[in-house]
Amino acid sequence: MGNENPMSTSDPQYILAFDTANEVVAVGVGLLDEQARGIELVASCEIEARRQSNTQLLSQINNLLEQQNIIRSSLACVVCGRGPGSFTGVRIAMATAKGMANALEVPLYGVSSLDAVAWNIQVNKRYGHLLVAADAMRQEVYPVEFILDEAGITRLGADSVVKAEEAAVACVGKNLLVAGDALVKHEELFISCGTVLERSLWTPTGRGLLLSAQAAWQQGKIDPFDTTLGNPALVLPVYTRLSDAEENERIRLSKNESKNLQTGVQGMCRSQAPGPRAVPVGTAFHNGQDISIRPLDAAHVSEVSQLEDVLMGTDAWNESLFLDELPRKDRIWWAAFHTEGDQALIGYAGGMIVDGYLQILKVAVREDEQHKGIARALLSFVAYDARDLGAQNVLLEVRASNTQAQVFYRALGFKKTGIRPQYYSDKEDALIMEGPLPLAQHDVAGMEVQLHEDTKTSQAGSFENPLILAIETSCDETAAAVIDGTGALRADVLASQIDFHARFGGVVPEIASRKHVEAICGVVEECLEATSRTSDRKPVAWQDLSAIASTYTPGLVGALVVGVAFGKAAAWALDIPFIGVNHLEGHIYANKIAAPDIEPPIVVSLVSGGHTMLVLVKEWGRYEILGETLDDAVGEAFDKVAKALGLGYPGGPVIARYAEKGRAHAIDFPRAMLHSGDLRFSLSGLKTAVVTHINKEREAGHQLNIPDVAASFQQAVIDVQVAKARTALQQTGAKEFCLGGGVAANQELRQAYEVMCDQLGVRLTLPPMSACTDNAGMIALVALDRYDQEKFFDLTADAYAHTSLEKPY
Ligand code: KG4
Ligand code: ZN
Repeated sequence: MGNENPMSTSDPQYILAFDTANEVVAVGVGLLDEQARGIELVASCEIEARRQSNTQLLSQINNLLEQQNIIRSSLACVVCGRGPGSFTGVRIAMATAKGMANALEVPLYGVSSLDAVAWNIQVNKRYGHLLVAADAMRQEVYPVEFILDEAGITRLGADSVVKAEEAAVACVGKNLLVAGDALVKHEELFISCGTVLERSLWTPTGRGLLLSAQAAWQQGKIDPFDTTLGNPALVLPVYTRLSDAEENERIRLSKNESKNLQTGVQGMCRSQAPGPRAVPVGTAFHNGQDISIRPLDAAHVSEVSQLEDVLMGTDAWNESLFLDELPRKDRIWWAAFHTEGDQALIGYAGGMIVDGYLQILKVAVREDEQHKGIARALLSFVAYDARDLGAQNVLLEVRASNTQAQVFYRALGFKKTGIRPQYYSDKEDALIMEGPLPLAQHDVAGMEVQLHEDTKTSQAGSFENPLILAIETSCDETAAAVIDGTGALRADVLASQIDFHARFGGVVPEIASRKHVEAICGVVEECLEATSRTSDRKPVAWQDLSAIASTYTPGLVGALVVGVAFGKAAAWALDIPFIGVNHLEGHIYANKIAAPDIEPPIVVSLVSGGHTMLVLVKEWGRYEILGETLDDAVGEAFDKVAKALGLGYPGGPVIARYAEKGRAHAIDFPRAMLHSGDLRFSLSGLKTAVVTHINKEREAGHQLNIPDVAASFQQAVIDVQVAKARTALQQTGAKEFCLGGGVAANQELRQAYEVMCDQLGVRLTLPPMSACTDNAGMIALVALDRYDQEKFFDLTADAYAHTSLEKPY
């Protein structure tokens, strides 16, 4: 049996399982026995990896397989711990597993990290009533009780998060076996609950993970050999709670003190943003209406109860019932509104979490707005939250006579599972229907995948090697692109999360990380699929790839880590190189999309939400930062000014839009460091000056002239940007000037640079609007150069929040 030969059915087939939900990296590899539905442990390892999971996990997997002489292509299935545990830890394992399973084209299944702990204890013959409590930070734990006997484990409850003290009090005197990494901090609390097991039994092991998988196989829940099951996109972490930002928002909204960030201007801002922007409900609305879906707040409860009266008759809830619902942590309520005109509430949906189930309480849409996909969209929002709160299935009751609703639910994957006789007040029966979460399998985590125009019309014909897949997840866009050896982008796709963050007035890191994990498989698959649009050949397949690249720095670490873990694991699975790309270098390379022939020396102005700098490109890959901001970035200043004006997020496009109608010299805002003689910037003073102006005008009882404020602010920014760029060009003698970053989409700024470059006799390159904001095409362009130079990253590659562009890599 030669390793080089393609697999035959008689070759051994392996299953790989791993988990990094705690401070431990656990890996197990097992031999699959299809007849017996059994998994024989081949090898396993557990190592302590404090906050180092991403550097350790793939190396451990690689070592384990090498020691056993197991080739990657003999892995028939991947299993990954879903937590609950450290959010970042779980995401590292999950993104790694998704990349690996996608590239190997094998099923991926998730198992509970807590079940893996229990199985490991069971196989060590410690039988009895067990409590596993994992650390949930903030003095909280994830407790689950099990009964362990010779036959196996029985779980007694669903995942939840509770105060450590409460969990302990609930178990006092129960004489339990106690395990779980919560004991590291809270052992004292749990001593009175029974016997604390030895530390080696507190965390998942490779063996425990494989036993969990075997149990699931024997119960018919998974099948390692069935490639129609185990879609890697659908495996998601167990969080059991929303992000802090969402939790706080719910509390605020339930108290009727909502800060209304969403003004009527929001719709305008969306249409002005560079590139297409998805509405929050993705593909749900084909009728061109602008509808916004937001968490239900106390201020709209009376509207809800009026609609209830109309739609629900004798089963209608009153206002106080809804008000009771809102502050509860196990409840989820979303509402749909018109964003134009009357801003009226047109529908709502809500549910509660009970023992791993989302129980739908209400789904209602105004009669004249039905059949437009609003109910489906509302349900998918409820479902997203429910998944984060630990639900895996969804359950609802529907009137036996309401066949229309039953058809709708069947289309979403619900099945009838029972009847509640005479359930309604008029004695009509209710059908019980159940379905799996997520409900929204038709989209990518509630986002629409956008295809960049520039790749749609490329020349037909075959692709030249190398073929490189590039992934970008540094902030709030999940993006992927494929480039070929000629430097042509064969596909360039993106899913923007902006609508999930806009309510919060900026990007919420925890939400960004969650959305990347949900979206990454779908975005990458769509990207590969899209390559067939630029050629007459089949789409690029995983096996066709020569390398995989991911943005590894700078950005939100929790977001970057998803792209790095996914890309690195996929490259490992295919045994091809992995390339790490600096995001800022990507913004520089984006100019090659507009002008493939630009050559150093080049001065580049990078202006985004996170960066403001002038860079000298000495040669491709060698950079000198001529000067950067001492405080806020330009995009940040636009965002903060927009927030102060109540114009929503992101601020850049909406400020630019108002500025068109205002006078650029109406208000004399400061031009900080204009004459500092160096190339550094400072923007916090300008922002403060604008805010002070706004407050003064309001205090004086004046009507604020928003267009004038916007235009004068924008002009102050542009004056400094242009003056410093001019100095940089004169000092360096460079004859090429380029732009990068989201603010480079600003038309006034672009025009000002045109004038300046004309005067200096310098060639100006402006990246297309879609390449100014974050995208994967620019990452692919860098990756191609790195590939040619054979600059590859190893299995310990990780994500970093900050890395200087000057540092060679
Ligand atoms: O590069 P980018 O998409 O993300 C970061 O890496 O930060 O840049 C986003 C920033 C936001 O601050 C946004 O307000 C700003 O770019 N922006 C603009 C414009 N379009 C986006 N700023 C000024 N004028 C615009 N037209
Ligand atoms: Zn960027």
